[in-house]
Amino acid sequence: MAAMGHTMAGDEILKSSFANFAFEHFEIAAYKSLLILSEVGGHESATSVLLANLKEEEAMAQWLDENLAAVTTRFASLKEEGRTAKV
Ligand SMILES: [Fe+2]
Repeated sequence: MAAMGHTMAGDEILKSSFANFAFEHFEIAAYKSLLILSEVGGHESATSVLLANLKEEEAMAQWLDENLAAVTTRFASLKEEGRTAKV
């Protein structure tokens, strides 16, 4: 939803990157909470799937973190050249 709202912004790529970063961390928190609930509720059968999903979300959050500088630098370079990051 946030990405759709950013389509008209000149810095869409940055705003979408921020939203993706935030959403991955939302998902990480959600899976951590679900892990607690599965333990408290005696649903340990869900633990391995929840842990697998948590690792995927953490990996994506890390990737976004590692690539934000490059995205920002590329955006700034294009902007300086009078170009946009849009396709
Ligand atoms: Fe995700």
